[in-house]
Amino acid sequence: MEVIIQSSPERSAALAAKMVARLVREKPDAVLGLPTGGTPVPLYAELVRLHREEKLDFAKVRTFNLDEYVGLASDNASSYHAFMRGHLFDHINVQAKNIHIPDGMAKDISAACNAYEEAIRKTGGIDMQLLGIGTDGHIGFNEPSSSLSSRTRLKTLTDKTMHFNQSHFAPGQKVPRYAITMGVGTIMDAKQCVLLASGSAKASVVQQMIEGPVTAMVPASVLQMHPRTTIILDDDAAKSLRLKDYYRFVYGNKPDWQRCE
Ligand code: F6R
Repeated sequence: MEVIIQSSPERSAALAAKMVARLVREKPDAVLGLPTGGTPVPLYAELVRLHREEKLDFAKVRTFNLDEYVGLASDNASSYHAFMRGHLFDHINVQAKNIHIPDGMAKDISAACNAYEEAIRKTGGIDMQLLGIGTDGHIGFNEPSSSLSSRTRLKTLTDKTMHFNQSHFAPGQKVPRYAITMGVGTIMDAKQCVLLASGSAKASVVQQMIEGPVTAMVPASVLQMHPRTTIILDDDAAKSLRLKDYYRFVYGNKPDWQRCE
């Protein structure tokens, strides 16, 4: 696990965008796994800028989103389909046929989940899985107690997650109780994982994810077992890490050829 501590969420986003850009330039048909939520917003803004100003080309890139709420159609303003259009897809040259987001309106959810897994498999697998983390340790919508080898499936959201996500819904609109999410095992199959976290509200769970035991009660802790994971934090999210000076030293002394900046 590589831990990189940056001075602001914007600097974290810029670094993650550089990692995405490097991958897409090396492999134009790269397969990206994408999150929603507040954390990736500055990252998507930077990718849009790189597309507009530095001609970063997404024409062949394929994308798979982590999750979608059950019962929200793709034209619902609170859906993750709408989020992705608003923050990224409408502003870059990704092709509609290359975009994949779980269908919250699927009649047969189990079949839709299996088809999602199959679609990922057919591409040859996710090259870079971008992630955020919930304050309860979830990645995707894999809430605490999720099987660490789970695949794409229906999940019941905790009250805590529903409460946190209420801010993304219009007043009076209820957060759905159920979601379709890639599983922890699906995420772990990605060739590379890049998780971003910012703000002091994430400090405790970030410490558990990086320095605590691997446990289904903090699903993100399984990333300790992934051979190629980078965690990019701002100072606030990193503040409870016991070895933060060590992580800073390691990153500060990395040879140039290993750096993304
Ligand atoms: C959303 C997702 C979630 C979020 C997490 C953090 O697609 O996968 O795991 O990454 O809930 O959300 P924010 O970034 O809003 O704190």
